[in-house]
Amino acid sequence: MADSSILVCGGCGFIGSNFVRVLAEQRPQARITVADALSYAGYTDNLGDLLDNRRVVFFLRNIAEYEGMREVFHNSYDLVINFAAETHVDRSLYNTSSFVRANVVGVDVLLALCREFNVPFLQISTDEVYGPAGEKDCFTEEAQLKPSSPYAASKAAADLLVQSAIRTFGQDVAIVRTTNNYGPRQFPEKLIPYFIHLLQQGQPLPVYGDGLQKRCWLHVEDFCSALLKLIADFPSREIFNIGATSEYTNLEVIESLIRLTGGRSPVNHVADRPAHDRRYWIDSSKFIARYGALTQRDLRSGLESTVKWYLDNPRIFERLGGNEAQSFEQSHYHHQ
Ligand SMILES: NC(=O)c1ccc[n+]([C@@H]2O[C@H](COP(=O)([O-])OP(=O)(O)OC[C@H]3O[C@@H](n4cnc5c(N)ncnc54)[C@H](O)[C@@H]3O)[C@@H](O)[C@H]2O)c1
Repeated sequence: MADSSILVCGGCGFIGSNFVRVLAEQRPQARITVADALSYAGYTDNLGDLLDNRRVVFFLRNIAEYEGMREVFHNSYDLVINFAAETHVDRSLYNTSSFVRANVVGVDVLLALCREFNVPFLQISTDEVYGPAGEKDCFTEEAQLKPSSPYAASKAAADLLVQSAIRTFGQDVAIVRTTNNYGPRQFPEKLIPYFIHLLQQGQPLPVYGDGLQKRCWLHVEDFCSALLKLIADFPSREIFNIGATSEYTNLEVIESLIRLTGGRSPVNHVADRPAHDRRYWIDSSKFIARYGALTQRDLRSGLESTVKWYLDNPRIFERLGGNEAQSFEQSHYHHQ
């Protein structure tokens, strides 16, 4: 593992770039390659110094395009880990096909190439594939998949492809399903950075419905550290939940952001998103039994450092000025 060669797909996005940073720091001998299509959510700036000093090799590639990805596979790898995906649930209401292409076709291509080149494959998935959890539900890896949004359905479809590769080809693959991640370098259209931005601008905060939807929040560096443990002892043909247990309503998160930024924006309840799941809850005991305790910083301290990071790095909000981000914001929030 120490000097492994790892291909990170989607390594210019939020979790992918944090993973590359943690990997580069904790495994100085590892050879790291990133393939990313640089969609509206992907930025080479997220890897900055690591690309400048050639610590990381970068390929501009769409994972859904077999020929382009095949060239990347000619370098040999010990592991392929896939973070590349269309990830914004709200966007999946408008353009389902881009989600199917990246999240389903893309994973199919990666599975085929990993078979062809005989490389283990780790797919990063989400708690959203299980669908909404009641107050007493606790979904293990065996639970049925009942996705609500087109985003979650495309991720569930990818999980099923991975599982079929195990049964059909005995392929050396694994899946990790995680809860909401937060931390530095998230595309600022997502809840936490977006609301920090609105609070700085003194603009109203659009809260879906009653704001009482509950989510479990895991700091991205805690998730990436858990992934490092997992890839050091690759769990072939297994699925692992890696979820936070710190559960907060959206309103509680927003109240913390108001307090931490000192902003004075009014809370503006807007129509809820269709099929907006009220709650997710996954059981991570299988991961803990095999890999040990899951380090989870408390959301309050994690949010404090996260808010500080965004206030110290205001250029990230310029990404909201891109054409795709602007047209999404206009059509989604200003036509409610
Ligand atoms: N962020 C979360 O809270 C969270 C929670 C659970 C699971 N996940 C999963 O983790 C993974 C990473 O999420 P994220 O929040 O970092 O996403 P992100 O949107 O910030 O980044 C996605 C990255 O993938 C790239 N990409 C998109 N389509 C591509 C394609 N066809 N080919 C190559 N690259 C492509 C983008 O350019 C970007 O760099 C996703 O698979 C997501 O489903 C995220």
